[in-house]
Amino acid sequence: MRHRQTRTTRGTLSRRSLVHAALAVGAAAVAGIGTSGCGASRTEPSPLATGRGTPMPETTERPGERRILLAYYSRTGENYYYGGRRILEVGNTEVLAGMIRQLIGCDVYEIEAADPYPYSYDATVDRNVREQNDSARPDIANPLRSISDYDTVLVGSPIWNNRVPMIMSTFVESLDFGGKTLYPFVTYAVSGLGSTERDYAASAPSATIGEGLAVRGEEVQSAQSQAEQWLRRLRLRS
Ligand SMILES: Cc1cc2nc3c(=O)[nH]c(=O)nc-3n(C[C@H](O)[C@H](O)[C@H](O)COP(=O)(O)O)c2cc1C
Repeated sequence: MRHRQTRTTRGTLSRRSLVHAALAVGAAAVAGIGTSGCGASRTEPSPLATGRGTPMPETTERPGERRILLAYYSRTGENYYYGGRRILEVGNTEVLAGMIRQLIGCDVYEIEAADPYPYSYDATVDRNVREQNDSARPDIANPLRSISDYDTVLVGSPIWNNRVPMIMSTFVESLDFGGKTLYPFVTYAVSGLGSTERDYAASAPSATIGEGLAVRGEEVQSAQSQAEQWLRRLRLRS
């Protein structure tokens, strides 16, 4: 069952709003998120290439700039909530991605599963266990062709069974991270970063894996200052 839909509720980041945010100055109404552009200090952001024949974007490079891409996967539907369950209209990681984007401005790319994960929490747990056991690489519906326009990539996801979902390995392994710095960020229930840094180091051996950020999913709405401090430590925000 496909449950992700384009959303325009305040506080959310719809896929289309994210993908087009780089171009859509004035789309700030979506999600209450600034659309002043992407890239830490870039005012003419590049659109995102999302594969499937999409041409690569024109970029406006300026010497000395850090060119930043935020890529994330997040799932809506029934999820874990303080030992119980709650329906998430917007995934926790997507909320965090929106905060980060608002704090630094950056191009944003949402990873979508070609075979979307179930609405049901338990069914998602079951599928994820199978995928982990099989070392699966689930297909991405909207693969990115290249990250050559970027030198810094923030990669966000939930923690599933103590690691990043296998689709994150699909994503990282499909791209050339040589010379790039990958900063992971996750939302979780109990595990913190789990094995995230090791997962990405294995999938992208040519990348420099930087400090990660772990935010508890249930508390993501109040994670702004945590995200801000992290970005300051990374020198992505002054
Ligand atoms: C399949 C599945 C497995 C999970 N496994 C873990 C886990 O091992 N450790 C943990 O801390 N949280 C785990 N969680 C909770 C999620 O990491 C947490 O709710 C996260 O904020 C969800 O992010 P999302 O809404 O962006 O998908 C799991 C959730 C799901 C759906």
